[in-house]
Amino acid sequence: MNTLLWAVFPYVALALFFFVPFIRMIYRPYGVTTRASGMFNRGVLGTASLLLHWGIILLFLGHAMGLVGGVAGSAFWVDLFFYVGAVGGVMAIAGSIIALIRRFTVPEVRALSQFDDFAVHFFLIAIIGLGLYQALVDRIWGSAFAGAAWFASLWRFQPEPELMAGAGLLTQIHVLLGLLFAAYFPFTKLIHVWTYPINFAVRPYQSMRTAADKFRRRWEFGLRSDKSFLTYLAAGSIIVLLAIAFLIGQPTRDGFDVAVAEVDGGAQVAARSDQVGYALYVSQCARCHGIDADGNGAGRNSPTFATLPRDLTAGLYRFVSTQSGIASDADLRHVIVNGLPVGGMPGFAALSDAQVDSLVAYLDFVWVDRPEAGPAVNITPQPAFTTAMRSQGRELYAANCSACHGQTGAGDGPAGAFIEDYPGHLLPPANLAAGAIKAGADPVQLYNRIAAGIPNGNAPLMPAYGYLAPEEIWALVAYLRREILPDSLVLAR
Ligand code: HEC
Ligand code: HEC
Repeated sequence: MNTLLWAVFPYVALALFFFVPFIRMIYRPYGVTTRASGMFNRGVLGTASLLLHWGIILLFLGHAMGLVGGVAGSAFWVDLFFYVGAVGGVMAIAGSIIALIRRFTVPEVRALSQFDDFAVHFFLIAIIGLGLYQALVDRIWGSAFAGAAWFASLWRFQPEPELMAGAGLLTQIHVLLGLLFAAYFPFTKLIHVWTYPINFAVRPYQSMRTAADKFRRRWEFGLRSDKSFLTYLAAGSIIVLLAIAFLIGQPTRDGFDVAVAEVDGGAQVAARSDQVGYALYVSQCARCHGIDADGNGAGRNSPTFATLPRDLTAGLYRFVSTQSGIASDADLRHVIVNGLPVGGMPGFAALSDAQVDSLVAYLDFVWVDRPEAGPAVNITPQPAFTTAMRSQGRELYAANCSACHGQTGAGDGPAGAFIEDYPGHLLPPANLAAGAIKAGADPVQLYNRIAAGIPNGNAPLMPAYGYLAPEEIWALVAYLRREILPDSLVLAR
């Protein structure tokens, strides 16, 4: 499915986008235009047209900035994309809406309209609306990092569909709709974009009086016809995109080899895999955790996060399975692959094992003074859950957990009201009854959570219950799964 959506469909759409205009230009050159409707309701048209056209030009420039910034790993350019895109997006969507209203309300224009006159506006409004919603409401606009790396991979002819698989759902829909629009584009009046406005400035004068001059300058006309400009523009766009894909390449970390040489005693292989990890990190993680991995990504304050994206240099990880409370490589791997859905972090299950390994190596690299994780919590094979275990679990829960999680697991226990995580935000105990589990509700993960607690620097968010006997922890797990967690969550695993 990922391959189909992100490696096959894009090529089909782009091929249509670039080649259909030639076919139309050759067979029906005079169809490459819009139907004039400027004589009706001119005032409104002017406003709509100006907003729409300039908005789209800004959006185009913004996306180009995002593409370059994403591929080069530059937060500056990606931020610029946000501002230029936000202004352009608001202008274009306003223009599009006004134009659509005019089409519906002015009878003459309505009579002139064809299907595509409406369709293009619906496409534009949906695509731009999604983009704006993400940028201004969800406030995660660093998606350009993932999008650019994936888009460049298309032009390198080594598509990497897995890079888009972890992008937000809205980003995915935005991009897929955009591609669908690109495929439809040359069949609509929008095809005029390929001839306007450059040609306008340089083409021979259109004289209504005599054609003699035109025919004398035939060679020049040949170079300056709409057809040849289409060729120049299309070839130019393709060359620019190829250049971005092949020449800008992947982001690299300055002074990286030196740093790794110090950490790893100069091991060449490690250096290379960390370098791969960095590029992958930028494309997949930087939008939330920041280019410098300090948790200062562009999307940092997005309301979609339960807590801020972690500062990965501090290594204060929470979802661990070790007696020390220090995350092991396996713990980091688990979070990367499965994400923390309730917390706002997507899972990256589409990445290959080698890719995840390179990310774990990269997290290891940025974690300042990473301590030894030490042995894992003592976990015995999962027993069959019996009724006796469940009632033992009920008692243990009432004694140990309900103070924070509340009697019914709704997260409303009296001791839970003032728990703060290390950036100083109030963090209520999980609403277990509603299934608000971040790191997995399968028995082993629940066991790990109870046995290792949820560390948070010096003051844990939730104490570790590793001192309980394994049977007692399993009894708690049985109780949670059978009586507290919603069935939908338990059955899903
Ligand atoms: C859409 C934003 C987003 C993206 C993309 C993202 N993260 Fe996160 N990440 C978060 C948030 C938010 C948290 C904190 C969630 C919480 O604890 O509630 C988090 C937490 C983490 C943690 C802490 C886990 C723990 O045990 O405390 C790690 C490690 C992590 N992310 C690594 C990554 C890596 C590696 C990538 C890229 C493959 C990545 N993240 C991509 C938002 C994101
Ligand atoms: C001091 C208060 C406190 C106590 C006592 C406590 N918890 Fe928690 N628990 C928390 C907090 C806070 C979180 C949310 C952490 C987060 O979202 O990062 C949490 C989260 C959890 C989670 C969800 C983990 C995830 O993946 O998101 C589970 C399961 C859980 N607790 C089970 C228990 C059980 C079982 C007990 C008793 C043995 C218990 N807790 C005792 C505070 C507490």
